[in-house]
Amino acid sequence: MANARRTALVTGASRGIGRAIALGLATRGYDVAINDTARQATVLEGVAKEIEALGARALPVHADVSSRSDVAAMVAEVEVAFGHIDAVVNNAGILIAGTVEALDEAHWDSVMDVNAKGTFLVVQAVLPGMRKRRYGRIVNIASIGGKHGAPEQAHYSASKAAVMGFTRVLAQEVGVDGITANCVCPGIILTDMGRVNLDDPTVRKTWHDKTALRRIGEPEDVVGTVAFFASDDSAFVTGQSLNVDGGIVLS
Ligand SMILES: NC(=O)c1ccc[n+]([C@@H]2O[C@H](COP(=O)([O-])OP(=O)(O)OC[C@H]3O[C@@H](n4cnc5c(N)ncnc54)[C@H](O)[C@@H]3O)[C@@H](O)[C@H]2O)c1
Repeated sequence: MANARRTALVTGASRGIGRAIALGLATRGYDVAINDTARQATVLEGVAKEIEALGARALPVHADVSSRSDVAAMVAEVEVAFGHIDAVVNNAGILIAGTVEALDEAHWDSVMDVNAKGTFLVVQAVLPGMRKRRYGRIVNIASIGGKHGAPEQAHYSASKAAVMGFTRVLAQEVGVDGITANCVCPGIILTDMGRVNLDDPTVRKTWHDKTALRRIGEPEDVVGTVAFFASDDSAFVTGQSLNVDGGIVLS
């Protein structure tokens, strides 16, 4: 059973979608541990102050999610500080554009390491605590790219498809202990990463016109669905991958 005061860990939370999720969870009554790499330390401190201004507790933790030792230290630090982790949001991700023929092996590996392996490592580290309490909410940020793909993003799409496949099996393995695992698949969202798709006005217009709601998403557009999967409103929903894309991928 969860305690009255909820706690969450959000990875890649210094900017973009992760920052919006962290602030959104703080608004909804969570104390929030916010992760990013050490090079984002100053920006992460700024997000911590924003969370505290909302009356919630903030804990900035530096870790590279693709490093098992960093992740173990991060989760241990959060569990000591907060006592437990109710919800984890695996949001940290990278995108390096390149056609299949131009892509070098190092780029393939780094995108897989952060997006897919990072999600696995964080989940593996939080599971003992969640199983012990027989409660947990795991929310993995995938992408519509993992469903329909986009040119020059083969490795990114593969990594996000991996996150969805991983989540479907995870849900089956952990449900017995009251833990749910779901994916949120953002569409085209205006962030530093999103600009890869949006800097070119022609590409931007194409995405705009492909979107049923005829607008590019803002980071805040992703928050409500993540909060739903992190909460008990979704207590009987697990193993799902829900598009939050304004209506690009209709399924
Ligand atoms: N922006 C979009 O259009 C879009 C669309 C679909 C999915 N997504 C996904 O949403 C998530 C957030 O993306 P965003 O658009 O906010 O991107 P962003 O680049 O603005 O933010 C990503 C954050 O992750 C952090 N990060 C990167 N590598 C890390 C690592 N190894 N360890 C810890 N932190 C790390 C970065 O420092 C950054 O703060 C990503 O998983 C991304 O793939 C984004």
